Amino acid sequence: MRHLLTTAGLRRETVTALLDTAEALKQALLGRQVRKLPTLRGRTVVTLFYESSTRTRASFEIAGKWMSADVVNVPAGGSSVAKGESLRDTALTLTAMGADCVVIRHPASGAAHRLAGWVPTHVVNAGDGTHQHPTQALLDAATLRERLGTLNGRTVTIVGDVLHSRVARSNIELLITLGARVHLVAPPTLLPWGVQNWGSGPHREEWEEHSRPVTVGHDLDAALPGTDAVMMLRVQAERMHGGFFPSTREYSVSYGLTEARLGLLPEHAVVLHPGPMRRGMEIAHSVADSPRAVITDQVRNGVHVRMAVLYHLLAAQEEQA
Ligand code: CP
Repeated sequence: MRHLLTTAGLRRETVTALLDTAEALKQALLGRQVRKLPTLRGRTVVTLFYESSTRTRASFEIAGKWMSADVVNVPAGGSSVAKGESLRDTALTLTAMGADCVVIRHPASGAAHRLAGWVPTHVVNAGDGTHQHPTQALLDAATLRERLGTLNGRTVTIVGDVLHSRVARSNIELLITLGARVHLVAPPTLLPWGVQNWGSGPHREEWEEHSRPVTVGHDLDAALPGTDAVMMLRVQAERMHGGFFPSTREYSVSYGLTEARLGLLPEHAVVLHPGPMRRGMEIAHSVADSPRAVITDQVRNGVHVRMAVLYHLLAAQEEQA
């Protein structure tokens, strides 16, 4: 694997190898007071973030540091980007200084792909516009695998602002690859056109023989009893230039995960949210803090998954050689 830009087209074996490595790293660090592995000593990871982030940026930094890499954080706000420097010049400048891997978040869909064509280093997409956020989907899969055992044959219901969500796009592709069914529940205004046909990865034909892997609905109450996991999405107000729903209250009434709705889920089902959450709108306070919610597990697994991604990009091939 040279870059990680998207979950679309990733083969099941590749995903399983990444998730297994994340699990092995988690076990290797369990109970250790000094969480430091020598795996990436002498390697330099640069995080280049043109959009705000708490979880993704911090966990890539922790992941790199726990594997002894040198990690340099370049927020666009405090860099020469603010003076008008282009993405290409910024990236070439950072790689000329010796970066082995650039982790990029950018508001433009496709930015990570463009970058991968310009620089000689490994590139990881940490979120590009409304397009993809592959490490989020991988950490969600790691959390679901941990809680449900397998994703094969499971149903995951994704709720909310699918239209603007790179998390939803990445998850749909990855979940289908791992054999899960995806049911999308959203207001009609927040569902992209043709979303039922998403998930055109290498394992699509296996699905076509049986049924469609992606279904769509607008009734959350009807969907919950048949779901193994419900993934609430953030309503991305910063990407909305118009009225997509009448009011936050109306959104919450139809699509918020309330205590009463939590009761409609099967006993074993879990609740995910990629964060940051809008409590009281997308998800009730009591639901976010309930034992059914695996939101802090997602964050915790995010570090191990990002360690696994950096390991596979920067060290695995060398170790095999
Ligand atoms: N889930 C996620 O990408 O969170 P951040 O924006 O805090 O990185």
